[in-house]
Amino acid sequence: MAQLMGWGWNMINQGYGSTWRAQRRTFNNQFRPAVVSGFHPIQMRQVRILQNRLLDTPEDFLYHIRHAVGSIILAVTYGIQVKEINDPYIETAENASKTIGQLGPGKYLVDVLPVLKYVPRWFPGAGFQRYAAYCRSLLSTFVEQPWNFVKDSWLDGTAVPCITTKLLEELPEGDERAEQEQISKHVAAVAYIGGTDTTAFNAQCFVLAMAMYPDVQKKAQAEIDAVIGRDRLPDFNDMDSLPFISAIVKETLRWQPVIPMGVPHYSTQDDEYDGFFIPKGSMVIGNSWSILHDPVMYPEPEEFCPDRFLKDGEWNPHIRDSVAAFGYGRRICPGHFMATQTLFAIISSVLSVFDIFPPTDESGNPIMLRPAMSPAILSGPLPFKCSITPRSDAAAVLIRQSVDTSSS
Ligand code: HEM
Repeated sequence: MAQLMGWGWNMINQGYGSTWRAQRRTFNNQFRPAVVSGFHPIQMRQVRILQNRLLDTPEDFLYHIRHAVGSIILAVTYGIQVKEINDPYIETAENASKTIGQLGPGKYLVDVLPVLKYVPRWFPGAGFQRYAAYCRSLLSTFVEQPWNFVKDSWLDGTAVPCITTKLLEELPEGDERAEQEQISKHVAAVAYIGGTDTTAFNAQCFVLAMAMYPDVQKKAQAEIDAVIGRDRLPDFNDMDSLPFISAIVKETLRWQPVIPMGVPHYSTQDDEYDGFFIPKGSMVIGNSWSILHDPVMYPEPEEFCPDRFLKDGEWNPHIRDSVAAFGYGRRICPGHFMATQTLFAIISSVLSVFDIFPPTDESGNPIMLRPAMSPAILSGPLPFKCSITPRSDAAAVLIRQSVDTSSS
């Protein structure tokens, strides 16, 4: 179904082969740690805008988080500065990424009976073909529009430096140029698809955890106050001095993994695991949820407990990192450096100036929240309410001073 919908170019859907290798190499070059640190000003600017929006309309926090994460990716990839809440680039990208959320092993009969892909659109029961045609047109706009916009401005010398301008500069001359341009274009597009829902869902889970676990929240704020004080906002230079915040990042990834069953893969050869024969071509699903909720490694795995990663204020070497949330082996998420840094920026900045409380009923009593996630391959928290208020008047002033929102 992914192929029919026009997702064939997407690295995440690629089988292991020369196209995947070329895309992965190009992607890794743009998202390796040394390059990702160059994104910090963009990430921090969007997080400051997020803080301002949380001050204005805290009830829309789920939307604001998603918008901030999408804006970071569009700025990093295409140099696009998203201005409006309903920006057309964000809208197209959102609609495109929604279509991938519809996929899942065996969800469409055509995944089980590939011959159905030849059924014509008008055939009774071929609704999947009509939906696939709509997706193909949407995805073409999503991939081509921002790339062509940057390419045109790059050619006339007005482009904002970004990953796309770097990819354009690196295009080889000669016969390989067109092929490499196609690869680069797809790499740019996959950053939004791979990086927006995933990072935003995790950041939303963090808010849920804070509303459910007030003691964790207080401990995190005490760390921030002790290290940074209350006169400034945290930034990336504070990362090493805030181990509890970094532990919250890890615990958020572990507590509610947003791709709980990993991305399904096919075995490329006959294999055997633990006495089980796995024939070539089997669909293999890595159960990340189970790995990250192993009660031996993570006692009381359903609880949100960042302290499990720390011992005497240092990383506990006996606890397995929550990296399984990013997948495995050579297919491991190549955006994970950027993702953890975006999460650090959001978590440290939000906690430094806001208190997060559960919602209350009509008599003012707190309503108990539970983690409830959508039942999809990419699983985010179901909409929930909470109260987000500035920690003090001074915190509100600090937020307002942190960014010129008129240019946001
Ligand atoms: C907290 C946020 C994120 C989570 C939890 C996450 C998780 C994952 C997972 C589980 C996979 C599949 C790995 C496998 O097949 O074993 C994956 C693949 C991928 N992710 Fe992420 N991701 C996140 C953020 C990002 C970001 C920010 C980007 C881009 C900037 C990104 C780009 C990709 C790409 C391109 C792939 C496909 C890799 C391949 O097939 O070779 N991800 N991610």
